[in-house]
Amino acid sequence: MTVTIVGSQLGDEGKGGIVDVYGEEADVVVRYQGGDNAGHTVVHEGTEYKLSLVPSGAIRGKVNVLGNGCVVNPRTLFDELDTLRERGLDPDVRVAERAHVILPYHRLLDGIEEDVKSEDDDEIGTTGRGIGPTYEDKAGRRGVRVGDLLDADVLRERLEYAVPQKRALVEDVYGLDIDDLEDPDALDLEALYDEFAGYGERLAEEDMTVNAGDYLASAMDDGANVMFEGAQGTVLDIDHGNYPFVTSSNPTAGGACTGSGLSPAVVGDGEVVGIVKAYLSRVGSGPMPTELGGVPGDTPDYDGDPENPRTEREELAVHIREAGGEYGTVTGRPRRVGWLDVPMLRHAARVNGFTGLAVNHVDTLAGLDEVKVGHTYTLDGEELETMPATTEQWADCEAEFRTFEGWAERDWAEVAEQGYEALPENARTYLEYLEDELDAAVYAVGVGPGRSETIVRENPF
Ligand code: IMP
Repeated sequence: MTVTIVGSQLGDEGKGGIVDVYGEEADVVVRYQGGDNAGHTVVHEGTEYKLSLVPSGAIRGKVNVLGNGCVVNPRTLFDELDTLRERGLDPDVRVAERAHVILPYHRLLDGIEEDVKSEDDDEIGTTGRGIGPTYEDKAGRRGVRVGDLLDADVLRERLEYAVPQKRALVEDVYGLDIDDLEDPDALDLEALYDEFAGYGERLAEEDMTVNAGDYLASAMDDGANVMFEGAQGTVLDIDHGNYPFVTSSNPTAGGACTGSGLSPAVVGDGEVVGIVKAYLSRVGSGPMPTELGGVPGDTPDYDGDPENPRTEREELAVHIREAGGEYGTVTGRPRRVGWLDVPMLRHAARVNGFTGLAVNHVDTLAGLDEVKVGHTYTLDGEELETMPATTEQWADCEAEFRTFEGWAERDWAEVAEQGYEALPENARTYLEYLEDELDAAVYAVGVGPGRSETIVRENPF
């Protein structure tokens, strides 16, 4: 069977930890979208691992697949593999031949485009990993795929087509002098060819590439349990997210089919677990109706001015940010913080078809007198139960809050050991409210970063 793990919010819901807990029963862990923008932290046997591309299953000795829906930066791939090996692990990672390759010019263009947009305060706040430009080339049918790296002639042909276009874009559209760039080799055909043909050799030597759909189907025929590890989250989905403040792939459950080569029937026959952070965080720009305080540069129309009414709620935001460690895994940037946004979650439950929920960071909210949620929105005098489709409408939504009584700090390791009933009653009331609103049972509750601090009520495998 399959279990698909999907972020229900804006990424950083703690998916890695849940993949780690449920992954114990998985034989194969698959990433189906995104690339090295997906910072995930896994704590295993007291050691913390920070990964951005390699699936978390690599730490637990599983077979890991980067599916065709992924964009793969071979520099990051081999860096992460080498680091895990230096730390005594033996990661088994397979890469889809249909996955697209992030080249250095994609990163370069990601940065240039963000700079240009920032002149009008329109930047997305990307992770700068070249994700968007790589998916653009995929859709534009000028990408380089992992399979192309294995054949030096094909690689050269692809680069001969793409590189002159990128050079023209940088020089003629953006008006930059390539020789003045920090890394002019990013646009040098021969340098790119040498480096990437080398990665092709290493992929072949280590026998890492697969026809992913075929590979997964035959693993399932042999009885394998497959876990799909979604990166980012529903509201960062290119189709169902908050466009244009999105990533360029489909983190939602449908992506598990298109990004792996297994059919919707296979994915739909399994379970889809929505990962929910008990409050909300956001990296980068875009609306956030339940935001507390703000992060200058990311929160729209906010520069940290003490006169700004947002500043009043900053104290609470700082408390939650510190308690929850809300700093980007990839970028180290402080994340924007807000109350749980339930209209967002209703949207996520519909798009993904959650069969269960895992709610993380319940411990982070401990010690507050009251905990609020944005229960509905008001837009132009009308009550909305779910997110509107346009960013402009969403930015105009005002959250209507519901207040819950807070819960006190506990010895969370002890609570986790005793199980769900040991959670403070007010925390259970909060979780049961979510179950009712999203029509899905809470399968797991995170009360700390480690595996042993997750209460597992239901194992979907
Ligand atoms: P990109 O994926 O680097 O193109 O960034 C696009 C948007 O997605 C930006 O707002 C990023 O902050 C956000 N984003 C990308 N990856 C993650 C993640 O793993 N967690 C949270 N936000 C992310």
